[in-house]
This record gives sequence, C-alpha cells and structure tokens, in this order.
Amino acid sequence: MSRITLSRFLIEQQRKAGTLPPELRLLIETVGRACKAISYSVNKGALAGILGEAGTGNIQGEAQKKLDVIANDFLLDANEWGGSLAAMASEEMELPYHIPGEYPKGEYLLMFDPLDGSSNIDVNISVGTIFSILRCPEGIDHPTQEAFLQPGTKQVAAGYTVYGPQTMLVLTFGSGVHGFTLDREHGSFVLTHSDMQVPETTQEFAINMSNMRHWEAPVKRYVDEMLAGKTGPLGKDYNMRWVASMVAEVHRIITRGGIFMYPKDARDPDKAGKLRIMYEGNPMAFIIEQAGGAATNGYQRIMEIQPKGLHERVAVFLGSKEEVERITAYHQQ
Ligand code: AHG
Ligand code: MN
Ligand code: MN
Repeated sequence: MSRITLSRFLIEQQRKAGTLPPELRLLIETVGRACKAISYSVNKGALAGILGEAGTGNIQGEAQKKLDVIANDFLLDANEWGGSLAAMASEEMELPYHIPGEYPKGEYLLMFDPLDGSSNIDVNISVGTIFSILRCPEGIDHPTQEAFLQPGTKQVAAGYTVYGPQTMLVLTFGSGVHGFTLDREHGSFVLTHSDMQVPETTQEFAINMSNMRHWEAPVKRYVDEMLAGKTGPLGKDYNMRWVASMVAEVHRIITRGGIFMYPKDARDPDKAGKLRIMYEGNPMAFIIEQAGGAATNGYQRIMEIQPKGLHERVAVFLGSKEEVERITAYHQQ
C-alpha cells in the first residue's frame, strides 16, 4: 500500500463524517508545516548559528535560547494568515497574539510551547514542540486571555513534535493517537505509528531526583517504594530515565510505558509545579489519555482543572494507568 502522508491522513479523517472539520484539518497541517521548518533549523544547529542564548527573558523569568525565539516566530508566521485562527498564545509571550487585521479570522485558538526542553539544544539532545487547540467562545471578536481559560477537556486537538534521531509528529483530535515520521527527502510526515497505546503497567519512572528534598510526602513515599525494588512494597525493580525534555519523556512513555512526574515542590511553594497547564499539562494529558494512559495533578485529572491564568503551572503525573492511579491515591490518602 502507498504511504499515508499527514495531509492524506487528515483528508481521509475529514471525509469520515464529523470527526475532523476542514478548518481544523487545515490548522493541524499548518502547525505540522511550521514544525517541519523548526526541525530543519534544529538539525542545522551550529551551522545555522542558532545555538546559544537569545539574550532575552520570557514572561516566566526564564532566559530564552535563540531557538525558543526562532521556533516561536515560525509558528506565528505559519499560522497568522491561514484564516482558521482567532488568536494564539505561547509560553514565550506574555499576552495572546492577535491575528493581524489584513487576514481573515477563524474559530480556533492555538496554544504552544514552541521549543520544549530548551536546556538540551546546545548539548544535542532531543527537544520538541507542543501544541493545543481550543474553540474560541462564540461572540468574541478580539480574544483576550479569558477566551483561552478553558479546561483541557475542551481541547479539540493536541500534539507534539519530537526533534530526536527521527522527527516525529504525534497527534490526537479525540479519536486515538497517530504518529508520523518526517521523511526529509520527500519533505512530508508519513504515518508510521497508528493507534499508539501506553502500556498499562510499567517498571520505568522519570523524575528529577535532585529535587527530592523539596518533594511532598506522597511523592517521596512513592519514589522510595520504587527504589526499594523487588523486596519492597511494590514487588518489582524499576529503572529510571530523565531527559529533561517533557516531549522526549512522553514519547518514550507512549512507546514503551512509564510514568513521568514533575510534582509541586517546596522550592517555590506559591507555584503548583514547574510545567504550564496550557502549553504542556493539557496537551500532553489529552494525548496520554487518548493513548489509554492517565494524567493527574495528584488529586484530579489535569484536563478537568479550570485554569485561571494563561501561564498557570500544574503538577504533572502522567503515563501508564496503574502507576498514575497509585501516586494519585497516595495524594488522596
Ligand atoms: P521548557 O524548555 O519549555 O521551559 O520546558 C522544560 C521543562 C520540561 O520539558 C522538562 O521536563 C523540565 O522542564 C525539566 O526541568 P528540570 O531542568 O527542572 O529537570
Ligand atoms: Mn516546555
Ligand atoms: Mn519551551
């Protein structure tokens, strides 16, 4: 059978009545095109002079890498003129980005973490892009941040692109999770992973252990139990991985199982965690749930949280169902 490119896959989904409106299909294709451009830049690295610091900071007070800024610009440029969007919001911008007056406006809101795992760029380790799409509430002509503040259950699509040994786009619009690999010679994403599923059980966990002294009791208990191995309460030996790119961790988990944790900790007690609900928590939760896994903040489904700010943080426990249920139960006890 001939290869199924992203465009063909989306058109065929659109034809299956009701699963994918044409405007949303176009939007997803456009995001995919921007991710291709980011992938080529990431690949060139020092050859294109794109490594290192940008010399600026974002709204989160984090130093921006050149590639954070480049990736953000690629996504804005590719998406502002197509007519499917009412506005965009990015981890790298304080306020929503409005569609310039010369272009038509559409019914969707696009949010993104243009470059996830930016600490890994200069050391040639996987980074990624994460995106989430919502419908703009009716009657809003000039969306401010309030329009974006919808729980993750309202997402109509979400995905990520991982720029690793292969560039892969992994996508959901609410009927399973579909994985595409970038064929550089043809310049297209090709369907290589149909109906991706997170294995229900696992023996692999991901957490930044250097923060252990700052964790809350349920997280400490759970990690202690995993470290105790076969003779401990969980009765099995675990392995650990920490890439420091959420995209890479989620991709590993969706491929071979595992649990990813970025808990709230005592370093900054006012923040619910490090990761951002709109650009990281919700899209990854949507993908993981669609792949049969689970995602909570320790107490409830991430996607059921009502966000109060565009850059709000969230504690994240996601991956294989059995393990996410365990750590969630420990929080609730
Ligand atoms: P970003 O580069 O978009 O700011 O995100 C980095 C995030 C996430 O990808 C990763 O899981 C985590 O930060 C790593 O944090 P530590 O450096 O604290 O381990
Ligand atoms: Mn990120
Ligand atoms: Mn980022």
